[in-house]
Order: sequence, then structure tokens, then C-alpha cells
Amino acid sequence: MGDVFISESAREDSVPVVDVRDLHKSYGGYRAVRGVSFTVMRGELFALLGTNGAGKTTTLEILEGFHAPTAGSVRVFGLDPCRDGVAVRRRTGVMLQDGGFFNELTTRETVDSWRGFLHGPRRTAQVLHQVGLAGRADVRVGRLSGGERRRLDLALALLGGPELLFLDEPTAGMDPEARRATWLLVEELLEGGTTVVLTTHYLEEAQHLADRVAVMADGRIAATGTVSEVLAGHGSQVAFWLPDGLGPGDLPVLARAAGDGTPVVERAAGRRRARYTVDRTGPALAELHRWAARRRVELDGVEVRPVRLEDVFLELTRRPHGHPGHPGNRRTTDKAGTR
Ligand SMILES: Nc1ncnc2c1ncn2[C@@H]1O[C@H](COP(=O)(O)OP(=O)(O)OP(=O)(O)O)[C@@H](O)[C@H]1O
Ligand SMILES: [Mg+2]
Repeated sequence: MGDVFISESAREDSVPVVDVRDLHKSYGGYRAVRGVSFTVMRGELFALLGTNGAGKTTTLEILEGFHAPTAGSVRVFGLDPCRDGVAVRRRTGVMLQDGGFFNELTTRETVDSWRGFLHGPRRTAQVLHQVGLAGRADVRVGRLSGGERRRLDLALALLGGPELLFLDEPTAGMDPEARRATWLLVEELLEGGTTVVLTTHYLEEAQHLADRVAVMADGRIAATGTVSEVLAGHGSQVAFWLPDGLGPGDLPVLARAAGDGTPVVERAAGRRRARYTVDRTGPALAELHRWAARRRVELDGVEVRPVRLEDVFLELTRRPHGHPGHPGNRRTTDKAGTR
């Protein structure tokens, strides 16, 4: 038997492209990141989700080598992005949350000037075409719309033909068509073996693109895994129009009968809609109809659907008081205390 031959690429495939271990980052006394760990393998798309101020951009910027961790370690291609910044940046494309441009340059001039910083950059026309800006090449950047500026930012990230892309809210401000076009582009890149770490507030985007997600809250990861893993155990959603004359006080009785927590009453199309989570939809629906018969009310618009990432996100990040993201608010996942 000869020696077992392990090719270079096979070895690379077994080592995470991104490896974050117990990362902490404080700004002065404020702990923006409080013990975050995750790995991203080659060709994967990993999505960081979370409330405003959860620490997503801070985590990305440490991976990009812009800040040093306060504690813990990060490795990109097995290297320290601070110490080995040049080697890491050569293989990486970065789209910042707020990329700055010179408003007086045209789109084409912006890409051309950026090429000067790269080793073996791709052609300007090719990259502009890829992000759908070919027709805007001669427009001054100051005149581009918000979504077009985001696409220009993406063009700059793609210019070096990177193996790894960091995209911080890549589709923020894009119209639905541009967003879908960007998803297709990202999917093509993934097919070609590119590794992507992105942040997004569009949970549909994460549900559509991500191999794995992490939901961050207050500098920590509240849940992580594939979208299916994160959704598992969160039941299904039952919703119906709240019949006239019934108040929220009636709902806990119903919910207890259906075997679950307190419903949420939402406004939709000017009416009140009750929505709640159930573990088993069959018994819950049967009880719902028995309750309606007893109360002699007609149930209208009953909907049963699988739980979505947005439902779980809201559950994980819901806080007892005030606005999510406010550093003074304590996160809790105790359902009873949060609704
Ligand atoms: N340079 C800094 N100095 C002080 N505090 C900072 C600094 N950068 C970020 N922070 C704070 O750290 C926390 C995390 O910020 P970060 O930008 O990482 O959040 P985020 O998850 O990206 O939020 P968003 O979804 O709004 O982009 C915030 O409370 C922010 O105010
Ligand atoms: Mg951010």
C-alpha cells in the first residue's frame, strides 16, 4: 500500500475559511461582542442576523482586520487578519456597511481607481455588468441612487475575484428586483466555490441564501445552525381574524386549551388578527373550532403555516421593555415574561 495522498485542496476543504473562537470586543467600557464563536467552511454562506447594535458589523470588521479582538481569536484562511492583513486581504472582498465614495468620480472611474490597489483585478466593464451597473458607468457616483451605490460597493468587493466575501447588509436599500438579481449573483459565486459571510436584516434573504445562520443579540449568539435547525422546535403559527366583541382577554383561555403560550394580537388591513404558536396543529385547530362553536362566533381567515425565521428572530430578540438594540435592555427568551 502506498502513502495516502491528500491533495492541497482537500486539506484546505477540511480547514475552516473563517474560525471565530470566543470573540470579545469592548469599546471603552461597552462590551459590543461578548463571546461569539462560529466557523465557516469553503463554499458556504454564513449569515449573521440580529438586532441593531447586536455586534454584527463589529464581528465582521474584526474578521476584516480593521480592529483587534479584546479577547478570543479569529482566523481567516488560518491566518490572523490583523497581523497577516496583506495576505488575507489579497484573497478577500469586502463590502462595508457604509462604504465611502468620491462623489465627483463616475462609476467607471471609481472601479478603475480601485483596480490600482489589487493584484490581477478583473475588467471594469465585466464587473459593472455583473452587478447591473453597465448602463450607469458614466454617471457621477454622487448621482447614483442608494441601491445603485450598494451595487457599486458590491462591484468593488468582486473586483479582485476573491475566494472569500464579507458583505455587510449587501442589499440594504435595493428594490425587490435588484435584491433578487443580487441573490442570483451570490448564488453563482457560491457555485463557483466562493465563501460568503454576510449580515442582513432581510430574514427572507437569509432563509433563501444561507447554509447556516447565527442570530445575534446583545453581542452574543442566541441561536445558530441551518435555517431548519434554528426553526426546529418552534412549532407552527396559527392566525385568524379576531371576531368582533372578543377581547385579548379571551385569547389566553383559547391558547391554554390549544396547549401553548399567549397569542399576539396584531393589526392587519385595519382589523385585529390573533396569532399564536402551537406544537401540534391538529389538536390546536380542533380546539379553536370547539371554542368558536361554544362562543357562537364565526372564525374568519384561519391560517396555519410553518414557523418562519422572522418569527423565531422576534422571539429570540424580544425584550421586556423598550426598543430592541438599546444597550440598557436585557434580553430574555422567557416567553411568559416577554409577551
Ligand atoms: N467605534 C465604536 N465605539 C464605540 N461603540 C461602538 C463602536 N462601534 C460600534 N459600537 C457599538 O457597538 C455595538 C455594536 O455595533 P455594531 O455596529 O457591531 O452593530 P450591528 O449588529 O452591526 O448593528 P446594525 O444592525 O445596526 O448595523 C453598538 O451598540 C455600537 O454603538
Ligand atoms: Mg451593522
